Amino acid sequence: MRFSPVFLLSWALQASATILQNGQAREDPYPGQAPSISLEDGSWRSYGPDASEISYKGRWDSKYVSWWSLPGIKLGFTGEQLALSFGPQTSEGVLLAYRIGGLDWEFSNVTANATYQFAGSSTPGLNLSNNNTFEMRVTNWGYGVQLSGVSVASDAKLVAAPAYNKTVEIIGDSFASGQYATYEGLSSWAYNFAAGLGDVEYSITAYPGICLTDEECYADKARGMTYQWFYASDAGVRANATYGDHPEKWNFSSHQPADLVVIDLGTNDRRPQNNIPGSTFYDSYVELVNSVHKTYPNAQIVIMSLWGNFTRSGDTYIQSPFYVSEIQRVSQHFQDDGFVHYFGTKGILQHNDIDPQEHPTDVGHLKIASHLMQWTKLKLGWEFGATGPEVQHDTLYWNNQDSYR
Ligand SMILES: *[C@@H]1O[C@H](CO)[C@@H](O)[C@H](O)[C@H]1NC(C)=O
Ligand SMILES: *[C@@H]1O[C@H](CO)[C@@H](O)[C@H](O)[C@H]1NC(C)=O
Ligand SMILES: *[C@@H]1O[C@H](CO)[C@@H](O)[C@H](O)[C@H]1NC(C)=O
Ligand SMILES: *[C@@H]1O[C@H](CO)[C@@H](O)[C@H](O)[C@H]1NC(C)=O
Ligand SMILES: *[C@@H]1O[C@H](CO)[C@@H](O)[C@H](O)[C@H]1NC(C)=O
Ligand SMILES: *[C@@H]1O[C@H](CO)[C@@H](O)[C@H](O)[C@H]1NC(C)=O
Ligand SMILES: *[C@@H]1O[C@H](CO)[C@@H](O)[C@H](O)[C@H]1NC(C)=O
Ligand SMILES: *[C@@H]1O[C@H](CO)[C@@H](O)[C@H](O)[C@H]1NC(C)=O
Repeated sequence: MRFSPVFLLSWALQASATILQNGQAREDPYPGQAPSISLEDGSWRSYGPDASEISYKGRWDSKYVSWWSLPGIKLGFTGEQLALSFGPQTSEGVLLAYRIGGLDWEFSNVTANATYQFAGSSTPGLNLSNNNTFEMRVTNWGYGVQLSGVSVASDAKLVAAPAYNKTVEIIGDSFASGQYATYEGLSSWAYNFAAGLGDVEYSITAYPGICLTDEECYADKARGMTYQWFYASDAGVRANATYGDHPEKWNFSSHQPADLVVIDLGTNDRRPQNNIPGSTFYDSYVELVNSVHKTYPNAQIVIMSLWGNFTRSGDTYIQSPFYVSEIQRVSQHFQDDGFVHYFGTKGILQHNDIDPQEHPTDVGHLKIASHLMQWTKLKLGWEFGATGPEVQHDTLYWNNQDSYR
């Protein structure tokens, strides 16, 4: 769905925002604030943002500015110090998730023109006799960072973290971006699905409010996905302020092609403010699938049905899915080609899996992710590769009463 100008302003307070779980404020929602430091004391060795040891995940532009949902970096380093420096195009107070290896995620906000230390001698998990893997993801879809450098101890070095051979791309809107979920991108079904599959690289080309059809939806999303998918930057106000009508093309040939693409788009097209006719939506959907197939000829493409909305009716709730026949017709259109698959979401979410802001709750996101994981295993033969590292963060809701008598 959309984000209103009111939300855009309040986003500046993101890192000090409250996370609500069943009406209660989550205690200490963002543990891990990295200290802001100076690199002047001679104990550091610095690399530029173009160092070959830094693997960029998701979409970043030629100035190392991050875009879309949950972009990040992965790298290996030796020693017990790691710091990241951020350039002027970093959003004020943007929230980052970061971790060593597969340990639990921690959180830190950062700001422009500053350096923050993410690993030091007391960081759990560091192994001084080997290199360590560090991962960072930008969790706010509306914000980004500009990476200006990475520093390690003066006697240490960066090493490339090996990339997985398989790549998944999710193309979506606010649902795949995790809008209104507790950690936004890091709580989205898209992240939980891709990270849950494990042993895969993933890119989430999703942005709240974007339509599949190339129209200016809600009057503040410059273009639709049939256009924007070809660009490094997203369709939001930050990108428009940076690039206006001249965004950078995304160079698909310099990135690993996707093996699996999941498309979850159309809810914004259907909203009353945009109300794109079914025939236009169908044509745009076919166009997007053709574009993705032309770009990634070997990818399997999954198109998701839209769960629509849930309304109270008499003594229960009923679901009204959106563009049902149109999405089925897209699937039929490609039936003989064999690379398009239809994933029906009917019955996965119930009315209370949608939060008061009309988006899935964290549990709703996990239900979508889990069903899609199992479906991907059964239908497409993918194995689950994550067998231990944390995937979904801060979902430890339980009853501490061990017996009732
Ligand atoms: C960052 O530095 C640039 C100049 O390099 C300056 O224009 C900008 O205002 C600074 N931003 C912040 C948030 O300090
Ligand atoms: C950054 O996070 C700290 C600690 O969580 C918080 O006190 C501070 O207000 C945040 N700063 C910004 C700019 O959001
Ligand atoms: C550190 O890495 C070495 C080399 O891979 C390994 O043998 C050792 O078990 C590791 N130590 C810890 C504490 O993980
Ligand atoms: C760094 O460590 C990882 C995990 O132990 C290992 O897979 C990788 O090969 C190492 N890379 C280098 C360059 O030593
Ligand atoms: C990627 O595939 C190659 C060739 O099949 C294999 O040797 C390598 O171990 C794989 N790498 C990873 C990280 O899975
Ligand atoms: C993009 O920015 C221009 C110039 O600031 C502005 O006139 C236009 O309305 C913006 N477009 C959208 C869709 O926000
Ligand atoms: C895109 O990347 C490829 C492979 O790295 C490179 O050969 C080509 O010049 C790039 N194209 C542009 C327009 O930068
Ligand atoms: C839910 O969707 C139906 C069918 O598109 C529509 O008629 C109805 O107005 C929507 N209800 C809400 C509360 O958005």
